[in-house]
Amino acid sequence: MSIDFRHLISRRSLLLAGAGLALAAPLRSWPARGAAPKEIRLTAEPARAQLAGADHPPSDVWAYDGRIPGPTLRLRQGEAVRFLVENRLDQDTTVHWHGIRLPNAMDGVPGLTQPPIKPGESFLYEFTPPDAGTFWYHPHANSLEQLGRGLAGALIVEEPEHIPVDRDILWVLADWRIDEQGEIAPGFGNMMEAGMSGRVGNTVTLNGTIPADQPVRAGERLRLRLLNFSLARIMALRFEGHDPVIIARDGQPCDPHQLKDGRLLLGPAMRIDLLLDLQGEPGRRYRITDGFYQGLGYELTRLAYSDEPPLRTKTPEPIRLPPNPLPEPDLASVEHHELALEGGMMSRMMGGGMISGGGMMHGMGGMSGMGRAIWSINGTSMTGDGHSGMAPLFLLARGKSHLVMIRNQTAWWHPMHLHGLSFRVLTRNGSPVPHNQWADTMLLAPEDVVEIAFVADNPGDWMLHCHITDHQTAGMMTVLRVA
Ligand code: C2O
Ligand code: CU
Repeated sequence: MSIDFRHLISRRSLLLAGAGLALAAPLRSWPARGAAPKEIRLTAEPARAQLAGADHPPSDVWAYDGRIPGPTLRLRQGEAVRFLVENRLDQDTTVHWHGIRLPNAMDGVPGLTQPPIKPGESFLYEFTPPDAGTFWYHPHANSLEQLGRGLAGALIVEEPEHIPVDRDILWVLADWRIDEQGEIAPGFGNMMEAGMSGRVGNTVTLNGTIPADQPVRAGERLRLRLLNFSLARIMALRFEGHDPVIIARDGQPCDPHQLKDGRLLLGPAMRIDLLLDLQGEPGRRYRITDGFYQGLGYELTRLAYSDEPPLRTKTPEPIRLPPNPLPEPDLASVEHHELALEGGMMSRMMGGGMISGGGMMHGMGGMSGMGRAIWSINGTSMTGDGHSGMAPLFLLARGKSHLVMIRNQTAWWHPMHLHGLSFRVLTRNGSPVPHNQWADTMLLAPEDVVEIAFVADNPGDWMLHCHITDHQTAGMMTVLRVA
């Protein structure tokens, strides 16, 4: 028997590249600064995907480059990039680069920052990511259905220096509502759901398919990037037998710290980078579970240890990611603002049937409720998705430091996202939030009051909305102007 070593070698190096073995020598040659920006094509199109695994029938989806999740885009911090996005759907779309601090005109909100990309047309996005970290991209037109049918992908901005981990791994978590035929269930924009926890589905995928066990080796150190692409599902993950360390939140490095109460909360649109030291025993399996919704816990996946002896016996010190160039808000001179979140079931706005003389009750029977307001921010409700005529709620003086207090005066959880800026998380319910945490999406429990602060250094009209997409489209959306 003869073995073609050339073939083996090339296949092996491909596998290594695919696994992102960060300890392998970085042989990449990056374009010199000042070189023409790299141009990447991205197509939004209908496709088929085997969400439930290879032995199940594929479902009709909408996807970037036909893939679920969309291609993982790897950029370099401080290097310009161009994305030529082509729309092969039969409806308008745009792309929002969630968490990237970019020029307003590149933010992807139809009617507010750009005209929508019409079917058959393209749009050129061009920006230079200032921050390294874990980000993502998704449409901002008819988001409920476009995101819900699969349009989303990870966007990784790499640090200039090598981060000393054995493997850099991405887990894109997403929730789907699959019907008996194996198709994505219609009925987006159900008013009853919109007034409650949103469209929570029945199938959770990891990197586009129902998760199998995750092969690991004892002693390895992983950088595990978790991203929640769900329309509505909040996750509370537990890692049996492990002690992961959070090193970044929404792409922004923080002081390394352990999980609070052993549980990791990950709302829609949020990202967490973990340092995961594999301290389990060779040959064993350890469960990773999600128990956010009472009585609806499930096993997400398992860490399946090989029989190999540990890669190392002593756990190295935690690492700290290099800081991003974020302007530090000056708390002595901040301008104060307040945002009050209201509405939903069990509120004055909805539960009492006080809105529009009973029209609400009529709308709640499952008919499409897109465009109806059941949530509000400071008493105003922008509904649907990006559109023209979105007047800013208030102005943020450019270059100044701002402190925004967000009060959740509802009975529901909300991951609140601000475009164009990352903010420092100062307090939650009066207590300082430790570990120097920055974010672009802030998860508020019912009745939570949080304070965030930032320097308004990025001019433009920036959306602020709940990332439970049903909440956003039913009124929990507004615009802040930096000028
Ligand atoms: Cu992830 Cu307004 O978006
Ligand atoms: Cu919400």
